[in-house]
Amino acid sequence: TYVVTENCIACKYTDCVEVCPVDCFYEGENTLVIHPDECIDCGVCEPECPADAIRPDTEPDMEKWVEFNRKYSEMWPVIISKKDPMPEAEERDGEPGKMEKYFS
Ligand code: SF4
Ligand code: F3S
Repeated sequence: TYVVTENCIACKYTDCVEVCPVDCFYEGENTLVIHPDECIDCGVCEPECPADAIRPDTEPDMEKWVEFNRKYSEMWPVIISKKDPMPEAEERDGEPGKMEKYFS
């Protein structure tokens, strides 16, 4: 599966949702997540993210992101159309510690 990781938080560009053939992105207030059981591993969303936030779970230390994506994809509504990024997307892009700041 592919998963959305930390750098989506507070950016939420949403380019990713337009290309997903199975509509498995879900939207929270500050970030999106992918449902790990619905993702068919096609990989087309990965290069679409301007924040480089989408990663395959085959990379090291991805377990916590798979769990994060699974947990919230079961709570949040699906998103299938692109919308405006968050207002501070450019400033927050690449900022460290976004997970702690927004999810603790
Ligand atoms: Fe959707 Fe493919 Fe990205 Fe999985 S890898 S979330 S199926 S676009
Ligand atoms: Fe987030 Fe990148 Fe999609 S910032 S909303 S994963 S395009």
